[in-house]
Amino acid sequence: MRVEKSSYFWTPEMGTADRDLSRHQQALDRCVSKLRNTLPVIGLRNPKIGLPDNSWAYCGPYDWVISFHAGQLWLAFSVSGDPVFLNAGRARRAAFRKIAAERSAQDHDLGFQFSLSCVAEWLLTGDREANALALDAAKSLMARYRPEGRYLQAWNAMPVHGGAMQAEFANGRIIADTMQNLGLLYWASAETGRADFREVANGHAETTLAHLVRADDTSFHTFLFDPASGKPLRGETHQGYADDSCWSRGQAWLIHGFAQSALHTGNPHYLDAARRLAAKTLDLMGDDAVPAWDYHVPDRNAAYRDSSAAAVMAAGVYMLADQCEPQEAGHWRAFGDRLIAGLLDTCDLTGDTTALGLLAHGAAHVGSGFADTMLPYGDYYFMEALMRSLGHRQFFW
Ligand code: GLY
Repeated sequence: MRVEKSSYFWTPEMGTADRDLSRHQQALDRCVSKLRNTLPVIGLRNPKIGLPDNSWAYCGPYDWVISFHAGQLWLAFSVSGDPVFLNAGRARRAAFRKIAAERSAQDHDLGFQFSLSCVAEWLLTGDREANALALDAAKSLMARYRPEGRYLQAWNAMPVHGGAMQAEFANGRIIADTMQNLGLLYWASAETGRADFREVANGHAETTLAHLVRADDTSFHTFLFDPASGKPLRGETHQGYADDSCWSRGQAWLIHGFAQSALHTGNPHYLDAARRLAAKTLDLMGDDAVPAWDYHVPDRNAAYRDSSAAAVMAAGVYMLADQCEPQEAGHWRAFGDRLIAGLLDTCDLTGDTTALGLLAHGAAHVGSGFADTMLPYGDYYFMEALMRSLGHRQFFW
């Protein structure tokens, strides 16, 4: 299969300069120290979103965000070997047993939840229960596949534990974020030798590429399908500025997600998707150190930043670089380094002993008033990005 590379995305002279990564190593060391120092304060709770004093509000039992602190602890264990992180990671397994036991609470976020907890624990410790929980989650995730439209259904119409039905969520719907959940399916396929996990992941990735990614390489946040026929209907936003705008974290989820799919399958179409999305984003960012929360807000200079979008994207472009020829790889590493520099220059809380998290200035959901805050997913991907920049290759997706 021949794939034409997009022609506008790199110039040979970019990214070939020697890189001084000492700043990245020092930042990673500070992340690990902060995680160690905050263990007694955070305990077994799982951060959800920052509070104005840079402490955390914590997740309820079924929150999609529940695994990002666990993921940081497992990364810290993998770089330091310090058993305090092993114990803190393991002690969280009970929270994931609870999600496994409550089917009505499960949705497309099972990948985020279980890759960064049980898959991580299995890979780093060989624990059999962690393996079984992750496999069970992969089966539940695969059950959300809608073969008529070849996609994984994102959300549920009925909120867990009561509340009004959200009819719009009953439609067939994919969202950009789901690309991060395919890693659990690829892992389950490799673990069991079953092709169906992988085929479902690929079906979803192809549908995402066909409908969520626009012809100009920007993206919709969500896309709707007729639930009976699977016929594609229209793009819509949920957390972006407008249906036809480009939400920066959604674009970042896609870059990282297609880079993951390429890594697991070797399919050059997925790699080219990651490349095109990243090239478009480089263009959309202009001179910004950290992206605005949406690339199409009317006054981008005055808009909230989203440090989590930068962190997800940095991890994604380093993963993309690892799959490219050296000269192109240099270009994507230079983009990753630029994103890390923006985060270190403007959002770094790793040296601030009063802050429980790593990064300031995340935008969770601007339309609902959640902006300019710490976010545990920004923190997780920041660590992943630092580690990828430094040459680490073992992650949990
Ligand atoms: N997955 C939800 C978000 O990115 O906010």
